[in-house]
Amino acid sequence: MGAFLRSVETALRRGGAASSHLPRRFFSVESSPERKVAVLGAAGGIGQPLALLMKLNPLVSSLALYDIAGTPGVAADVSHINTRAQVAGFMGEEQLGKALEGSDVVIIPAGVPRKPGMTRDDLFNINAGIVKSLCTAIAKYCPNALVNMISNPVNSTVPIAAEVFKKAGTYDEKKLFGVTTLDVVRAKTFYAGKAKVPVEEVDVPVVGGHAGITILPLFSQATPVSNALTDEDIKALTKRTQDGGTEVVEAKAGKGSATLSMAYAGAIFADACLKGLNGAPDIVECSFVQSSITELPFFASKVRLGKNGAEEVLGLGSLSDYEKQGLESLKPELKSSIEKGIKFVQEN
Ligand SMILES: NC(=O)c1ccc[n+]([C@@H]2O[C@H](COP(=O)([O-])OP(=O)(O)OC[C@H]3O[C@@H](n4cnc5c(N)ncnc54)[C@H](O)[C@@H]3O)[C@@H](O)[C@H]2O)c1
Repeated sequence: MGAFLRSVETALRRGGAASSHLPRRFFSVESSPERKVAVLGAAGGIGQPLALLMKLNPLVSSLALYDIAGTPGVAADVSHINTRAQVAGFMGEEQLGKALEGSDVVIIPAGVPRKPGMTRDDLFNINAGIVKSLCTAIAKYCPNALVNMISNPVNSTVPIAAEVFKKAGTYDEKKLFGVTTLDVVRAKTFYAGKAKVPVEEVDVPVVGGHAGITILPLFSQATPVSNALTDEDIKALTKRTQDGGTEVVEAKAGKGSATLSMAYAGAIFADACLKGLNGAPDIVECSFVQSSITELPFFASKVRLGKNGAEEVLGLGSLSDYEKQGLESLKPELKSSIEKGIKFVQEN
């Protein structure tokens, strides 16, 4: 993640007026392989800042921005930024194939966001249909791409994507990821604030799923270790991480859910996927993937990313009693959200 921020900084410096005196060796990104990234839902609250962040990522050579409306403007705007990625906007279903063709990574923030009083599950019917149709197109036009699913409820949309790919005969469990990075980003921020440690040094795995109590931050494994936190502090941090989305939904008072922090988290995860594809070693991020580390068919945990996508799904490590309890209590809800997604594709 630090490297991504540094590369953004480099991209920014590169575009700045003062860049002419910076040594060329800082800008060796031209040697990294061609990589196409497609953002589906690119004109939305998440999609626009995510498009911006992907344009700043020097690992991206081609950036396809797709939405049902509004993409020509977003694409024209972002395309003027003087970084490597060539930007193209695509609008409407008839242009979806062109947007997807040749993609290495497809990021999906398409769909409706939560409003106050709604749970992620309330979004199910609308977003399930959107995800199903987008994944049908992915199976047709870029079956080998890594898919980064942001559309909620992730606990169900990832199983939906898997079922669609299975039906199309293109499913590869290593290539489908539910983006839970925002839970990690929040857990890190909240932990750093409470433990009074430098936030940029903090690491906290977050496992389980991506809704309410299914989000299980493992503060017992947080680094740097803090002995200053009481059991009550850990409970409060856990609850705040689980309710982080609701905190934003309520503060936005009807104007949507997390977009800027989500775009940041999505950009971090996509960057990790690209680094993995390019063969960088030791790229590990938490993600909601097909998994056998519990009895549930999908589960979020640390995943090692490589040339084929999820090269290894890492285990949970040792858990505190509080986390063990949390793990058991999240399983029924997560199981039913997964089953709901599978059933949706079977019946539609
Ligand atoms: N994974 C996470 O941590 C996380 C966090 C926040 C939000 N989300 C989810 O991300 C999604 C988008 O949120 P947002 O705030 O950007 O919403 P938004 O309404 O601002 O944007 C969604 C965009 O999707 C587009 N869209 C709708 N149907 C489409 C289709 N068939 N093909 C392509 N694009 C389509 C819309 O035109 C719109 O531009 C929601 O489902 C939200 O719940 C996920």
